[in-house]
Amino acid sequence: MRVVSGIKPTGNLHLGNYLGAVKQWVAMQDDIQAKGGETMYFIADLHGLTEWIAPDAMAANTIEMTATLIAAGIDPERSILFNQTRVPQHSELSWLLNNVARVGWLNRMTQFKDKAGKNREGASVGLYDYPVLMAADVLLYNATHVPVGEDQKQHLELARDIATKFNNDYGRELFTLPESFISKAAPRIMSLRDGASKMSKSNPSEMSLVKLIDSDDQIAEKFRKAKTDPDVLPETMDGLEGRAEARNLITIYAALSDRDPADVLAQFAGQGFGAFKPELADLAVATLGPIRERLTRLLDDRGEVGRILERGAEKARDLAAPLLLDVQRTMGLQI
Ligand code: TYM
Repeated sequence: MRVVSGIKPTGNLHLGNYLGAVKQWVAMQDDIQAKGGETMYFIADLHGLTEWIAPDAMAANTIEMTATLIAAGIDPERSILFNQTRVPQHSELSWLLNNVARVGWLNRMTQFKDKAGKNREGASVGLYDYPVLMAADVLLYNATHVPVGEDQKQHLELARDIATKFNNDYGRELFTLPESFISKAAPRIMSLRDGASKMSKSNPSEMSLVKLIDSDDQIAEKFRKAKTDPDVLPETMDGLEGRAEARNLITIYAALSDRDPADVLAQFAGQGFGAFKPELADLAVATLGPIRERLTRLLDDRGEVGRILERGAEKARDLAAPLLLDVQRTMGLQI
């Protein structure tokens, strides 16, 4: 069993990333390792390039994202923690897989359609090819488990299609088919300003997302001002039908406290948001505050965070090199 997952260094880690992905990464670090498996997490700086990031911000973001992952519970002594750029095999395998993936498959990717918007001609080739690099990221290590938020599910299905076609075309089971693990508790955390759009780093409204570096006051303010409706909370989940913002806040409360949403509703049924929001804010502050404090301490020594990435990359390269060589040989590229 090998767990592999990544995160782009675009801005700070937010509650959607944390509840949808990173919390699972930390849990798998215990569960999968207890079963003899391995966990590998990386900063997807090459994927980060698909959005404009100024060079000095890219370097700083990579360090800060790494420190945030460590503060959230990823232990670099137990998990291999690295950044994509330092393991060139990701890019090399990506090119080889470009010749397996079909244009028709990439044309179906909803994330590309969303991000390119109306100006497809002006979108970068990198944004279009993004899912093939992502396939390389996981196939390179024969990943079995890939913990991600729901928005990445389609990309993982594409990775399986690429692996299957490669194995068929070359007549051997070289690649393991990776399986996505989507958090049951928080598959898709929504914006605090709009229950119809996901919480995202690219949302221009600061009030739409809670960041892990936010102060206690900022966290409390964001929940206080979160969009809701005038009704009281219902007794059952069915009662949240058509109330996307209310459902999102209940989901966040349940995911933060590792409780069942139905159980949370049973506690707050009949109460309005005036009563619920402060409870949610307190819970978020109690959970995120200690992570922020560890993060602040880690950022006092950015050099050490950089060295952690370097050591992680060395281990990742050792695992990646034989597999890439095997792929090259299989394709007839090693003479
Ligand atoms: P990224 O950087 O956009 O997000 C990192 C992780 O956070 C999850 N996520 C969410 N989950 C629930 N609710 C939300 N609102 C929310 N927003 C983000 C994402 O699903 C993701 O798991 N392409 C990936 C990075 C990547 C990767 C990989 C992941 C590159 N190579 C290989 C897995 C395997 C991305 O852009 O994630």
